[in-house]
Amino acid sequence: PRYFYFTRHGQSEYNLLGKIGGDSGLSANGSEYAKRLALFAKDSICTDAAGQPRPSRLWTSTMNRTKDTAAWIEHPTIQATYEDGSKEKHDWIQMRPMARRNLDELYAGTCDGMTYKEIEEVFPEEFKARQEDKLAYRYPRGESYMDVILRLEPLAHEMERTREPILIIGHQGILRILYAYFMGMKRKEAPYVSIPLNHVLKLTPHAYGCHEDRVCLMT
Ligand code: F6P
Repeated sequence: PRYFYFTRHGQSEYNLLGKIGGDSGLSANGSEYAKRLALFAKDSICTDAAGQPRPSRLWTSTMNRTKDTAAWIEHPTIQATYEDGSKEKHDWIQMRPMARRNLDELYAGTCDGMTYKEIEEVFPEEFKARQEDKLAYRYPRGESYMDVILRLEPLAHEMERTREPILIIGHQGILRILYAYFMGMKRKEAPYVSIPLNHVLKLTPHAYGCHEDRVCLMT
Protein backbone atom coordinates (compact mmCIF):
# COMPACT_ATOMS: atom_id res chain seq x y z
CA PRO A 1 0.00 0.00 0.00
CA ARG A 2 0.97 3.60 -0.56
CA TYR A 3 0.81 6.12 2.26
CA PHE A 4 1.19 9.85 2.54
CA TYR A 5 2.27 11.28 5.86
CA PHE A 6 1.69 15.01 6.35
CA THR A 7 3.01 17.09 9.20
CA ARG A 8 3.52 20.77 9.81
CA HIS A 9 6.99 21.84 10.97
CA GLY A 10 7.50 22.00 14.73
CA GLN A 11 6.43 25.22 16.43
CA SER A 12 8.52 28.12 15.04
CA GLU A 13 9.67 31.35 16.71
CA TYR A 14 7.11 33.19 14.54
CA ASN A 15 4.29 30.80 15.56
CA LEU A 16 5.05 31.74 19.17
CA LEU A 17 4.78 35.45 18.34
CA GLY A 18 1.64 34.98 16.22
CA LYS A 19 3.43 36.30 13.11
CA ILE A 20 2.71 34.82 9.69
CA GLY A 21 5.27 33.74 7.08
CA GLY A 22 8.93 34.67 7.59
CA ASP A 23 11.75 32.16 7.76
CA SER A 24 12.34 31.74 11.47
CA GLY A 25 13.83 28.69 13.18
CA LEU A 26 12.13 26.37 15.67
CA SER A 27 11.21 27.21 19.26
CA ALA A 28 12.35 24.83 22.05
CA ASN A 29 8.95 23.17 21.74
CA GLY A 30 9.43 22.83 17.98
CA SER A 31 12.84 21.17 18.43
CA GLU A 32 11.31 18.65 20.80
CA TYR A 33 8.70 17.83 18.14
CA ALA A 34 11.48 17.31 15.57
CA LYS A 35 13.05 14.67 17.81
CA ARG A 36 9.75 12.89 18.39
CA LEU A 37 9.00 12.95 14.67
CA ALA A 38 12.36 11.26 13.97
CA LEU A 39 11.41 8.39 16.30
CA PHE A 40 7.98 8.11 14.69
CA ALA A 41 9.54 8.05 11.21
CA LYS A 42 12.00 5.33 12.21
CA ASP A 43 9.39 3.09 13.86
CA SER A 44 6.27 3.71 11.78
CA ILE A 45 7.30 4.93 8.32
CA CYS A 46 10.73 3.42 7.58
CA THR A 47 9.83 -0.02 8.93
CA ASP A 48 7.10 -2.34 7.64
CA ALA A 49 4.76 -4.50 9.74
CA ALA A 50 7.34 -7.32 9.75
CA GLY A 51 10.03 -4.98 11.10
CA GLN A 52 11.91 -4.85 7.79
CA PRO A 53 13.29 -1.56 6.44
CA ARG A 54 10.89 -0.02 3.96
CA PRO A 55 11.97 2.48 1.27
CA SER A 56 10.38 5.82 2.08
CA ARG A 57 10.80 9.44 1.01
CA LEU A 58 11.11 12.71 2.87
CA TRP A 59 10.13 16.05 1.38
CA THR A 60 10.39 19.45 3.06
CA SER A 61 9.96 23.01 1.83
CA THR A 62 13.02 25.23 1.35
CA MET A 63 12.24 27.07 4.61
CA ASN A 64 14.34 26.73 7.77
CA ARG A 65 11.47 25.57 9.98
CA THR A 66 10.69 22.50 7.84
CA LYS A 67 14.35 21.61 7.22
CA ASP A 68 15.08 21.92 10.96
CA THR A 69 12.09 19.66 11.70
CA ALA A 70 13.63 17.00 9.42
CA ALA A 71 17.08 17.30 10.98
CA TRP A 72 16.86 14.32 13.38
CA ILE A 73 15.41 11.86 10.89
CA GLU A 74 17.94 9.15 10.04
CA HIS A 75 18.73 8.32 6.45
CA PRO A 76 20.63 5.03 6.31
CA THR A 77 21.34 3.10 3.13
CA ILE A 78 19.16 0.02 2.73
CA GLN A 79 18.75 -2.71 0.13
CA ALA A 80 15.21 -2.13 -1.05
CA THR A 81 12.90 -5.07 -1.61
CA TYR A 82 9.41 -4.31 -2.87
CA GLU A 83 6.24 -6.26 -2.12
CA ASP A 84 6.37 -7.92 -5.53
CA GLY A 85 9.79 -9.33 -4.60
CA SER A 86 11.73 -7.14 -7.03
CA LYS A 87 14.96 -5.73 -5.65
CA GLU A 88 16.40 -2.32 -6.34
CA LYS A 89 19.52 -2.54 -8.50
CA HIS A 90 21.22 -0.08 -6.20
CA ASP A 91 21.06 0.47 -2.51
CA TRP A 92 18.41 2.93 -1.48
CA ILE A 93 19.16 5.94 0.66
CA GLN A 94 16.24 6.04 3.01
CA MET A 95 14.54 9.36 3.77
CA ARG A 96 17.19 11.63 2.33
CA PRO A 97 15.57 15.08 2.79
CA MET A 98 14.55 16.76 -0.44
CA ALA A 99 13.70 20.47 -0.18
CA ARG A 100 10.90 21.39 -2.61
CA ARG A 101 10.16 25.02 -3.44
CA ASN A 102 6.56 24.13 -4.36
CA LEU A 103 6.04 23.23 -0.71
CA ASP A 104 6.98 26.72 0.59
CA GLU A 105 4.19 28.40 2.59
CA LEU A 106 1.62 30.66 0.91
CA TYR A 107 3.53 33.93 0.54
CA ALA A 108 1.81 36.83 2.29
CA GLY A 109 3.72 39.53 0.32
CA THR A 110 3.47 42.94 2.03
CA CYS A 111 1.91 41.28 5.10
CA ASP A 112 4.71 38.73 5.56
CA GLY A 113 5.99 38.87 9.15
CA MET A 114 2.88 40.64 10.56
CA THR A 115 0.33 39.33 13.08
CA TYR A 116 -3.33 39.10 12.00
CA LYS A 117 -4.08 41.96 14.41
CA GLU A 118 -1.44 44.17 12.77
CA ILE A 119 -2.83 43.37 9.32
CA GLU A 120 -6.33 44.31 10.49
CA GLU A 121 -5.05 47.64 11.85
CA VAL A 122 -2.71 48.62 9.03
CA PHE A 123 -4.62 47.18 6.04
CA PRO A 124 -8.30 46.91 7.16
CA GLU A 125 -9.59 46.64 3.59
CA GLU A 126 -7.24 43.77 2.84
CA PHE A 127 -8.18 42.00 6.05
CA LYS A 128 -11.88 42.27 5.17
CA ALA A 129 -11.36 41.15 1.57
CA ARG A 130 -9.56 38.00 2.76
CA GLN A 131 -12.35 37.16 5.19
CA GLU A 132 -14.89 37.53 2.38
CA ASP A 133 -13.12 35.23 -0.08
CA LYS A 134 -10.20 33.39 1.50
CA LEU A 135 -9.72 31.08 -1.50
CA ALA A 136 -9.30 33.78 -4.16
CA TYR A 137 -7.83 36.55 -2.00
CA ARG A 138 -4.27 37.42 -3.04
CA TYR A 139 -2.02 39.29 -0.57
CA PRO A 140 -0.51 42.49 -2.06
CA ARG A 141 2.68 41.33 -3.84
CA GLY A 142 1.94 37.85 -2.50
CA GLU A 143 -0.12 34.76 -3.21
CA SER A 144 -3.66 33.42 -2.90
CA TYR A 145 -4.78 29.88 -2.10
CA MET A 146 -5.70 29.62 -5.80
CA ASP A 147 -2.08 30.43 -6.70
CA VAL A 148 -0.93 27.74 -4.29
CA ILE A 149 -3.32 25.19 -5.83
CA LEU A 150 -1.72 25.85 -9.23
CA ARG A 151 1.85 25.50 -8.02
CA LEU A 152 1.07 22.32 -6.08
CA GLU A 153 -0.56 20.53 -9.01
CA PRO A 154 2.64 19.01 -10.50
CA LEU A 155 3.72 17.92 -7.03
CA ALA A 156 0.37 16.22 -6.34
CA HIS A 157 0.74 14.30 -9.60
CA GLU A 158 4.27 13.28 -8.63
CA MET A 159 2.90 12.03 -5.31
CA GLU A 160 0.35 9.90 -7.14
CA ARG A 161 3.12 8.30 -9.23
CA THR A 162 5.46 7.57 -6.29
CA ARG A 163 5.19 4.06 -4.93
CA GLU A 164 7.08 4.55 -1.66
CA PRO A 165 5.46 6.18 1.39
CA ILE A 166 6.22 9.92 1.50
CA LEU A 167 6.60 12.03 4.62
CA ILE A 168 5.95 15.70 3.84
CA ILE A 169 7.06 18.24 6.43
CA GLY A 170 5.17 21.31 5.32
CA HIS A 171 3.14 24.33 6.32
CA GLN A 172 -0.46 24.97 7.31
CA GLY A 173 -1.61 26.54 4.02
CA ILE A 174 0.20 24.04 1.81
CA LEU A 175 -0.97 20.96 3.70
CA ARG A 176 -4.57 22.22 3.63
CA ILE A 177 -4.47 22.17 -0.17
CA LEU A 178 -2.79 18.76 -0.46
CA TYR A 179 -5.16 17.32 2.13
CA ALA A 180 -8.26 18.70 0.38
CA TYR A 181 -7.01 17.38 -2.97
CA PHE A 182 -6.40 13.84 -1.74
CA MET A 183 -9.57 13.75 0.36
CA GLY A 184 -11.66 14.91 -2.60
CA MET A 185 -12.93 18.06 -0.86
CA LYS A 186 -14.35 21.17 -2.51
CA ARG A 187 -11.82 23.94 -3.21
CA LYS A 188 -13.86 26.46 -1.20
CA GLU A 189 -13.42 24.33 1.94
CA ALA A 190 -9.65 23.87 1.59
CA PRO A 191 -8.50 27.14 3.25
CA TYR A 192 -10.33 26.17 6.45
CA VAL A 193 -9.08 22.59 6.90
CA SER A 194 -7.67 22.01 10.39
CA ILE A 195 -4.00 20.96 10.30
CA PRO A 196 -2.80 21.31 13.89
CA LEU A 197 0.84 21.50 14.94
CA ASN A 198 2.41 18.42 16.56
CA HIS A 199 0.34 15.87 14.62
CA VAL A 200 1.10 13.46 11.80
CA LEU A 201 -1.75 12.83 9.36
CA LYS A 202 -1.52 9.50 7.57
CA LEU A 203 -3.55 9.24 4.37
CA THR A 204 -4.12 5.87 2.73
CA PRO A 205 -5.50 6.36 -0.79
CA HIS A 206 -8.33 4.09 -1.92
CA ALA A 207 -10.59 4.03 -4.97
CA TYR A 208 -12.47 7.27 -4.23
CA GLY A 209 -10.51 9.25 -1.64
CA CYS A 210 -8.35 8.41 1.35
CA HIS A 211 -8.61 6.82 4.74
CA GLU A 212 -7.20 9.15 7.39
CA ASP A 213 -5.40 8.47 10.69
CA ARG A 214 -4.14 11.27 12.93
CA VAL A 215 -1.32 10.69 15.39
CA CYS A 216 -0.59 13.28 18.06
CA LEU A 217 3.11 13.20 18.95
CA MET A 218 3.02 16.01 21.51
CA THR A 219 0.34 17.88 23.46
O1 F6P B 1 0.48 31.01 10.97
C1 F6P B 1 1.17 30.00 10.31
C2 F6P B 1 0.92 30.05 8.82
O2 F6P B 1 1.59 28.95 8.23
C3 F6P B 1 1.35 31.36 8.15
O3 F6P B 1 2.70 31.40 7.76
C4 F6P B 1 0.41 31.41 6.97
O4 F6P B 1 0.28 32.68 6.40
C5 F6P B 1 -0.87 30.91 7.60
O5 F6P B 1 -0.48 29.93 8.54
C6 F6P B 1 -1.87 30.33 6.65
O6 F6P B 1 -3.10 30.20 7.32
P1 F6P B 1 -4.32 31.17 6.97
O7 F6P B 1 -4.52 31.01 5.49
O8 F6P B 1 -5.47 30.64 7.79
O9 F6P B 1 -3.94 32.58 7.33
